[in-house]
Amino acid sequence: MLVLFIWGHMLLESSILISKDAMYRVARFMDGYYVFGADYPFLITCAAGMILTIFIVHAALAMRKFPESYRSYRAFRDHMATFRHNDTSLWWLQVWTGFSLFFLGSVHMIAMMTRPGDIGPYESADRIVSEWMWPVYALLLIAVHLHAGVGIYRLAVKWGLEVGPDPAANLHRLKLARWIIIGFFLLLGFTSLGVYIAIGIEHRDHKGEHYVPSWEHGTIQINEPKQAAAAVPKTSQLAGGES
Ligand code: HEM
Repeated sequence: MLVLFIWGHMLLESSILISKDAMYRVARFMDGYYVFGADYPFLITCAAGMILTIFIVHAALAMRKFPESYRSYRAFRDHMATFRHNDTSLWWLQVWTGFSLFFLGSVHMIAMMTRPGDIGPYESADRIVSEWMWPVYALLLIAVHLHAGVGIYRLAVKWGLEVGPDPAANLHRLKLARWIIIGFFLLLGFTSLGVYIAIGIEHRDHKGEHYVPSWEHGTIQINEPKQAAAAVPKTSQLAGGES
C-alpha cells in the first residue's frame, strides 16, 4: 500500500512539470474542490494522518527484525560479508533507508498535516526554497525510492511472481525492473524538485503569496467599501489640477 501510495504521489506531485496551472488543479482536486465545490484542506490532514499511521505500523513491524544488540549486529555484518548474496546485502540497505525515513518522512508528513492549505505551485515552491525543505526532499527522494523499489522487488521474489518460464531469467527480469522503476522515479522526482526550486527562487521576494491560476487573472474582484468609494469626489467635482 505504501509503495502504491508513493508512486501515485510522485505522479501527482510531478504535475508541476506540465505547468503551474496543472499542479494547482491537482492540489485543488486533492482538497475536494472539484467534488464538493469548496476547499476542504482537512481532507489532506486526514489522508496524511492515515498514511502516517500505516507508516508507523510498518516501521514498528520492521523494527522487530533490526539487530537488537552489538553482538547480533556484528553477526549479521559478518554473515553478509561471507555470504556475499545480493539480496541479503539489500536487506541492510532497507534497514538504513528505512531508518532515515523515520525522520525525513515524518517531517514531511507532519508539515502536510499541519499546513494542508499551503499546497500549490507557489506555496510548495516557497516551502522548498524559502523554508529550506529542498535538502530534506533530496534525501527523502533517494531514501524512499530505494526503499520502495527494493521493497516491492523483495515482495515479488518472496511471492514467486513469474515474468518468464526460466527461474534464472525470471530473477534477472525482476532485478532489471527494480532498477528501471527506481531510476524512473528518481529522475521524475529530481526533475520536479528542480522545477520547484526554479519557481521558488523566482518567487522568493513574494514568499507567502498564493498562486492565482491563469484563468482567474483579470477576474479578481477588489471589493472596495462602498462608503469609501462614495467619499471620493467625481473628477468633474474636483478643482482643476487636483485630479
Ligand atoms: C498524504 C500525505 C502526503 C501529502 C499530502 C504529500 C504532499 C506532497 C506535496 C504537495 C509535495 C510537493 C512539495 C511540497 O508542497 O512541500 C510533496 C513532495 C514530496 N513528498 Fe509528499 N506527501 C505526502 C506523503 C509523503 C510520503 C509518505 C512520502 C515518503 C515517505 C513523501 C515523499 C515526498 C517527496 C520525496 C517529495 C519531494 C518530491 C520532489 O521534489 O519531486 N510524501 N509531497
